[in-house]
Amino acid sequence: MIVLGIETSCDETAAAVVTDAREIRADVVLSQLDDHTPYGGVVPEIAARAHLEHLDGLIRRAMAEAGIGFGDLDAVAATGGPGLIGGVIVGVMTAKAIAAARGLPFVAVNHLEGHALTARLTDDVAFPYLLLLVSGGHCQLLAVEGVGRYRRLGTTIDDAVGEAFDKTAKLLGLGYPGGPLVEKAAARATDPARFELPRPMLGRPGCDFSFSGLKTAVRRHVEELGGVLSDRDRDDLAAAFQATVAEVLADRCARAIRRFKEEHPQGGALVVAGGVAANTAIRSRLSTLAEKQRMPFVAPPLRLCTDNAAMIAWAGIERFRLGESDPLNFAPRPRWPL
Ligand code: KG4
Ligand code: ZN
Repeated sequence: MIVLGIETSCDETAAAVVTDAREIRADVVLSQLDDHTPYGGVVPEIAARAHLEHLDGLIRRAMAEAGIGFGDLDAVAATGGPGLIGGVIVGVMTAKAIAAARGLPFVAVNHLEGHALTARLTDDVAFPYLLLLVSGGHCQLLAVEGVGRYRRLGTTIDDAVGEAFDKTAKLLGLGYPGGPLVEKAAARATDPARFELPRPMLGRPGCDFSFSGLKTAVRRHVEELGGVLSDRDRDDLAAAFQATVAEVLADRCARAIRRFKEEHPQGGALVVAGGVAANTAIRSRLSTLAEKQRMPFVAPPLRLCTDNAAMIAWAGIERFRLGESDPLNFAPRPRWPL
């Protein structure tokens, strides 16, 4: 089985060709970073226009790299939501057009399901597993019991963790996108213990997260420094922020592991996914936790953590081989909880 995947829900235009033998035959991603950087964040209208301009070319490139024609495909999968509606419409319409022209099945993939199932594309991960899904718009702990079977153990009560990285980066004058820039600044820090930050939710019952207090505490430090940060201040604050996030995530995961093990005595892996899973400090903290808990730890390669179309093609394959596909009148869903 060979499937074309399309991703256009945020600021990456992406196309990929993946097989059910877990082979990524092509995986092209075009970041719109330069289009949005002057505005300090993603501008939906600019994103939608850029997807429209580049998607056809990217699909052609992916097909050429995979060495196949449209006639060789078994299905077309596109992100059907959640995300910025303009972009999702572009991807869904393109996928539907290819499906209609070639008489192929169309699969509308939930973007979060794409992140959630990536580990099964890159590694031998069986159901059930415990998933920490950390991206720009989401922060959830899920028991993944099968394709389409996600049980939420915890979620953020305010900001998503990627959002916290992005806002902190702005406060530190690091620019956009925040995650990778905070990580680089943190790596340059000389005294990561210099700034005290609160550890929201640490030790509290349940598996929910909260990050807005942390962001406020960073702002207070910036204000106390007179609003002007030296390179050293900035790097030390970035390191303090990153270490705190890693600790909070590990604490919440430790609680979720307890619940997961009670409900699934046969065990399962701890899997991390989403853009923030590209953070090396967070990966390493979670890996240590999993080792202590005697659980296998799986984190997809960095380029498959941030948005890409290989994960959409793969989620399409997972659903399609269970006999699922979507009608051509599928309506894009800007909000679509897992
Ligand atoms: O999954 P993703 O590419 O898009 C969404 O579905 O949201 O995640 C993007 C988020 C952004 O907030 C970005 O700052 C964050 O992931 N991110 C990181 C890193 N790379 C990307 N956060 C921390 N460390 C990183 N290395
Ligand atoms: Zn994403």
